[in-house]
Amino acid sequence: MVTSAYDLDLPTIDPTSELDRVARTEHYRELVAEGHWLVRTIIGFAVISYDDVAGILRDKRWHNAIAKLPEMMGITDPEITENRRPSIITTEGDEHTRLRRLVAQSFSPRAADRLRPAMRHVVNSLIDPVVEAGRADIVADICEPYPIPIICELLGAPKEDWRDFSRWAEAVLAIFNGTVNDELDRIKQANSELTAYTERMIAERRDDPRDDLLSSLIAAEEEGDRLSTPELVSMVNAVIVAGTDTTRNQLSTAVAVFADHPDQWALLAEQPELAPQAVEEVMRYLGAVRGVGRFASEDIVYRDVLFPKDTFVFPSLAAANVDDSVTEGDPFTFDIRREPIKGRMQMTFGSGIHYCLGASLARAELQEALVLLAQRMQNLRVDGEITWKPPTTAIFGADHLPVTFTPGHRSRPGSDLERDLAAGSFAPGG
Ligand code: HEM
Repeated sequence: MVTSAYDLDLPTIDPTSELDRVARTEHYRELVAEGHWLVRTIIGFAVISYDDVAGILRDKRWHNAIAKLPEMMGITDPEITENRRPSIITTEGDEHTRLRRLVAQSFSPRAADRLRPAMRHVVNSLIDPVVEAGRADIVADICEPYPIPIICELLGAPKEDWRDFSRWAEAVLAIFNGTVNDELDRIKQANSELTAYTERMIAERRDDPRDDLLSSLIAAEEEGDRLSTPELVSMVNAVIVAGTDTTRNQLSTAVAVFADHPDQWALLAEQPELAPQAVEEVMRYLGAVRGVGRFASEDIVYRDVLFPKDTFVFPSLAAANVDDSVTEGDPFTFDIRREPIKGRMQMTFGSGIHYCLGASLARAELQEALVLLAQRMQNLRVDGEITWKPPTTAIFGADHLPVTFTPGHRSRPGSDLERDLAAGSFAPGG
């Protein structure tokens, strides 16, 4: 028998409650053990079991709620609400499939691997100034500045423009701040500067293709179909919006988890080949994206529950990640030697058609950064208090992560490219 979700007798969870993130996910796990997969929240429903999080994210009738974000935040300015270009993040159905097909190749694991020497160089150049002192704020010194130079390198933006890029990215990301309505002028200004800059870069690359993401997106073709200039601009915007704060926050949560597990930090330094597993495990154990938003594009019946059109649900990636079916043994134990169970990958990159397009790049960024940090910051200890973002923020991580450590050796440059980069002036922000 089909029952409306609104008529079900469901446990209610309050995302603003004082429960810390471990207590919160333990609570989800208890609820799943009691047979619940759906709970009520202040603005809709949350989905908390692995199979149902995957089930809803793979069901195309549920659409990405990011498209409704400006509206949900009370933004009425037509320049923001009406003139938005179709983006891979906010489109669905055939339109999304077409965009995704055209860009997939440019975000392959091989494309990400080519940036590994640049990643190592950026991380080393961020560690260098703090290493002798044996203390650092991991967020301010490493996580914050790390992603922008990588995205600039990915796109092929010249080094002298990185500061502008950083400023634009910060303003574009401000759309997610609670104070967005006070910042609209700054956001619009940054958007139009970034658009003009990207259009210029696209025109240059059309005449003179190079070995970078923009050239590869321009060349991408499927059955005679290509991305238009507005679609290319929108892709660059999507990469900045989706690839900056996610990576820096995931790196901060990862280092905080390792600081709590010194044996695992030492193990990673000694056995850098564990880096791929370490990244999967740390993203499972404490993911920076706790959940994603979906709304029903039509009346949907799922597991005999009717979700009327426009119902909002929050598939909790954090809850899915501690589902008993995802690990052999206790999901609350952190162990980088864990082999992921086939078909039950950690969920922090999402699932279904909107699965993170930058997953290979993010994995490579985290693997390279964590190994170098583990090797060059040995005996890592938290020195003071970690300040966390509120658990309800869309992208969760630390605001401050003060640490002390014993300086370790800098690994030798590993390739010709890295040596070239080291010899040149490839320093973030400089
Ligand atoms: C650790 C870092 C990252 C995490 C945790 C992360 C997480 C996610 C998640 C959960 C989604 C799905 C959102 C949804 O279903 O509503 C997503 C989508 C996306 N991500 Fe990432 N991401 C990361 C890094 C990156 C990077 C580095 C890039 C770009 C180079 C990127 C580009 C994208 C794009 C373009 C989408 C939208 C894909 C689509 O809608 O088809 N992400 N990401």
